[in-house]
Amino acid sequence: MIIAGIVAGGTGSRMGGGELPKQFLELALKPVFIYTAEKFLKYADAVVIGMNPDWIDYANELLEKFFHHKEKIFLVKGGSDRNETVKNIISFSKESLKCIDSDIILTHDAVRPFVSDEIIYESISRIERCDICTAAVPATDTIIVSSDGETADSFPNRAEIFLVQTPQTFRIGDFEDIYNSLSDNEKKIATDVCRLFKSKGKKVLLIKGNPKNIKLTYPYDYQTAKIIAESIV
Ligand code: CTP
Repeated sequence: MIIAGIVAGGTGSRMGGGELPKQFLELALKPVFIYTAEKFLKYADAVVIGMNPDWIDYANELLEKFFHHKEKIFLVKGGSDRNETVKNIISFSKESLKCIDSDIILTHDAVRPFVSDEIIYESISRIERCDICTAAVPATDTIIVSSDGETADSFPNRAEIFLVQTPQTFRIGDFEDIYNSLSDNEKKIATDVCRLFKSKGKKVLLIKGNPKNIKLTYPYDYQTAKIIAESIV
């Protein structure tokens, strides 16, 4: 089985500008997370959205409004951090959708609405050859490592630097094994799933991302996203 795990448990604090979390902002009259869910529907057996618990009812209303057929779409409670949201999506998938450990999950930020069909297709086909694969794009700016934020420590070779996007795709049993082996403190500092897999000796494959697959983080990203959305409708 292939699950699309859309993580939407955050509040979008860096976006600022009001109470509505950024996954609900509108792009050409449609909320961001609806675009994202639509993208995965034709590839996944189920789209499971891990939503901020305070916004589940509102999200449900929007799903009713925008999807005529929503048999394959499920809302579950997001967690206190992104990994916990992934964990909740996986628990639901096992308990309610009868997923098994070898089933595949594509985890994707709800706030990356412009993920392409190619990236999704590649993620599904390449997972056969690795433990986890992630969309990534080559860095275009020079990277400086600075431990104090004021002076430069080193300049990594830009040709070897990639910026991580989503989807990040793996087998659900692998995530559970790794996540359950972490202490509470490790869970708090574990940000990226690929990094977690790599620390356990797993093979992490990069697949070609797309500069258009932006994450809405700051107001500027929303302005950019509105322009992209207007150009594709
Ligand atoms: N996310 C999640 N569960 C959390 C926190 C974040 O599912 N407890 C999701 C967000 O909803 C988002 C994705 O992870 O789709 C990427 O995280 P980020 O951009 O940091 O989103 P927020 O946490 O909402 O934003 P901010 O850090 O500005 O508050």
